[in-house]
Amino acid sequence: MVIPDKVDNDRQPTEDSSSPTDRLTRRSIRSFVVRNGRTTAAQADALHRLLPRYGITYSDQLIDTAAIFKRSAPVWMEIGFGNGDVLLNMASEHPDVNVIGAEVHESGIGHALIGMENAGLDNLRFIQHDAMEVLENMLPPESLDKLLLLFPDPWHKKRHHKRRIVQTDFLNAVARTLKPGGILHCATDWAEYGEWMLERLEADARFTNQAGTGNASPRPDWRPVTRFEKRGHRLGHDVVDLLYTRNVP
Ligand SMILES: C[S@@+](CC[C@H](N)C(=O)[O-])C[C@H]1O[C@@H](n2cnc3c(N)ncnc32)[C@H](O)[C@@H]1O
Repeated sequence: MVIPDKVDNDRQPTEDSSSPTDRLTRRSIRSFVVRNGRTTAAQADALHRLLPRYGITYSDQLIDTAAIFKRSAPVWMEIGFGNGDVLLNMASEHPDVNVIGAEVHESGIGHALIGMENAGLDNLRFIQHDAMEVLENMLPPESLDKLLLLFPDPWHKKRHHKRRIVQTDFLNAVARTLKPGGILHCATDWAEYGEWMLERLEADARFTNQAGTGNASPRPDWRPVTRFEKRGHRLGHDVVDLLYTRNVP
């Protein structure tokens, strides 16, 4: 894997000084920043009408997904779903799965809610909160069958690497919440972050690489190309998919 020599400065989120972020997490090191002012009227309307029904309010209490979805079914979760293209695709292609999306960006949630309503989906719920706190405090142990982390912010400057979501505490939270045999699916177009993920996952005996030690997996056919992935393609970046199975403890 080649480390890109040109830094994509435009890609990096900028810090928000007014910090509505504090409502979204108590963590001091955050993998996101909240961008204000880009929610359209249609997205605001969808948030107002649909979030009370399809949103799960963050709390420190463990949730019962079967009660929330009113059925027992496999649970898949996507972290940082952006505008929700993959999330909507998963929910519509797998009506037998309960799908949860965690995202902090309001307009993305609004966009996904509009798509959900248009597609007539009922097997999708949204949590507008820091996914790290959701994984650590809200999801019961061994409650997820699949967890997706697609094109997370790469935080490419060295002094920002601590803000990358893939860290020891993330892997601990994933190992706790995934069922044995459950799947962690990461993808990135940032070569050096791909190496970072691979290094940490290979060193973690709780996970097994589905493609064999040190290898990336082929891009799964089912996965739609995401907005950030398209941007990576335009910039000439290679994309890696990393699929790991949670081992039986
Ligand atoms: C680079 S974008 C990728 C979006 C989408 N997955 C795609 O490929 O188009 C990263 C997204 O992750 C979200 N994000 C970052 N850290 C998060 C966290 N801790 N909890 C929830 N969402 C997070 C950001 O708000 C942003 O929308």
